[in-house]
Amino acid sequence: YTAATPYTSLPAVLLIGPPGAGKTALLTLFERGPFYHNKEDTADANNNGKPTVTTPVSETHTTQVPHAVELAVSSPSSADPTSPGHVASYQTDLDAAGAQAKKFLLVDTPGHPKLRGRALAALAQDTPTIAVAPSPAAAAASSPGAPDAGNPPSKVKAVVFVVDAAALADSDAPYLAAAAEHLHDALLALQRRHRARKGSRAPPAVPVLVAANKLDLFTALPAALVKSHLEAEIGRIRRARSKGLLSSDRHDADGLDADEDEADAWLGSYGSDKFSFKEMLEFDIEVDVLGGNVVGEGPGADKWWRWIAERL
Ligand code: GTP
Repeated sequence: YTAATPYTSLPAVLLIGPPGAGKTALLTLFERGPFYHNKEDTADANNNGKPTVTTPVSETHTTQVPHAVELAVSSPSSADPTSPGHVASYQTDLDAAGAQAKKFLLVDTPGHPKLRGRALAALAQDTPTIAVAPSPAAAAASSPGAPDAGNPPSKVKAVVFVVDAAALADSDAPYLAAAAEHLHDALLALQRRHRARKGSRAPPAVPVLVAANKLDLFTALPAALVKSHLEAEIGRIRRARSKGLLSSDRHDADGLDADEDEADAWLGSYGSDKFSFKEMLEFDIEVDVLGGNVVGEGPGADKWWRWIAERL
């Protein structure tokens, strides 16, 4: 059973974020790539003319098994020598351009609080991996009675946290609190790998992109404000959680253990006052915030695509 699994051990990029942020929309945009504009009003089910697509995904799903699409970026080394470090847009047809392509899986995960545990658990592993639904081809090639031909888990190379920058604009709304909590938990899962690790070697770095989506909407917050709002709210969350820990652990006979637990549950630099994403660098976690949009007029999704390409 070697040929039946087309994406054995391709690196994965995980899409996480609150419901309705645009994860599935972004995946579909990148999936359509150079064919996006011709395909706009003929989104049929049989994917004619989309040769790089191995898994048809175009609607929000609610199952626990994440959907994935196989995508390719031009490797910077093989790109136009006149522009070093240049990465072709997702709208470039790499086959037609004859570029050397680096393949990866973009993995969609459900945003609903009750369904996001699987993605967070994946990030908590020392070397984060994620198992995705087998492609229809792999499933069809599997003979009856054969062991499950599901794909082996893929290594998670990066995380894209998609957030609705228009919904964030109203800071009284529960959206900011919910989004910040989701991001806090994802970052804490990645951070905890450092303390959990027994040896001296650091766990593999997993950078995080906060994709401030829906910038086509005039009410949307610009990326800089999305960043500061999330940082402020995450700061509140970690303070609130810390107080909870203190009150329950106060009476622990073993004061040292309580301190350890407290430090383990604290996101970022222990005891710092204001939270900033820069603190995550202490744990080798790079966090960038970039604005864009999937539909409508705006900066588009190219910046996100390049961010991903540079981290594969
Ligand atoms: P879950 O699967 O529930 O976690 O949500 P999701 O993050 O996958 O969101 P989805 O892609 O289903 O998008 C939710 C809605 O936002 C859809 O109606 C999209 O069309 C819309 N949407 C996505 N991106 C944009 C954008 O850039 N601008 C605007 N205006 N709407 C967008």
